[in-house]
Amino acid sequence: MSAKPTALQDLPVDLDKERLPEHVAVIMDGNGRWAKSHSLPRVMGHQKGVDTLKDLLRCCRDWGIPALTVYAFSTENWGRPIEEVRFLMTLFERVLRRELSDMMKEGVCIRFIGNLSSLSPSLQEEIMRSIKDTENNTGIQFTVATNYGGREEITQACKSIAAKVQQGLIQLDEINEITIEDHLYTKGLPSPDLLIRTSGEMRLSNFLLWQLAYAEIYVTSTLWPDFDRSQFHKALVSYQSRDRRYGKL
Ligand code: FPP
Repeated sequence: MSAKPTALQDLPVDLDKERLPEHVAVIMDGNGRWAKSHSLPRVMGHQKGVDTLKDLLRCCRDWGIPALTVYAFSTENWGRPIEEVRFLMTLFERVLRRELSDMMKEGVCIRFIGNLSSLSPSLQEEIMRSIKDTENNTGIQFTVATNYGGREEITQACKSIAAKVQQGLIQLDEINEITIEDHLYTKGLPSPDLLIRTSGEMRLSNFLLWQLAYAEIYVTSTLWPDFDRSQFHKALVSYQSRDRRYGKL
């Protein structure tokens, strides 16, 4: 990964390493506004957003956070101008190709969640290659939501469970929350403890609807390309100040 690591290499002293989130999820919002504020075309915001993402991934590794999931492209994002959609798809492909060797060196294990079948064959190929090559890596678990929608994910889980019931493989009264989790794209991943959303919007935008049930939510007005280690530090300080009760007293 070519992005230069910034300051704050070690875990800041005001963070308790025993109470770090196991899994952080991020809605990387505000790339377009960042580009506009720098008088650049919108797509340059996405380009810059990749560098931010690379440094956050490294930061999670440096600070001992084992899983990071990011929302790269939602099922609704197809509604953007065709040039922007094309740019993003090409960017994903290019970044995956370019970063694979560094991900191997740094022990990143990448996976993708979402309906990948409607992506271009060449992007699917790059995705499959990166999954296969990194599957035995033991470093950070990096999940990229691409053509992902939480409602679509739950719908496909319901369909596959219903099909198993129909075939007699599962009994109706055996279905519980674990059955549902086992049929989500995120099977095997712990639920995120912390959701970060940049650029100030207070929405889930169809991201990890099931998995975020008990996540702590941190919203910052910082635009995604400007979300650096010091911003992440602030998010973690806020996370560690929360009293997570899971509905109990
Ligand atoms: C939202 O900002 C951002 C996106 C839809 C794309 C995010 C994608 C990346 C940063 C690239 C990630 C690359 C890989 C390989 C995982 P926006 O365009 O909605 O910003 P706006 O709200 O200011 O218009």
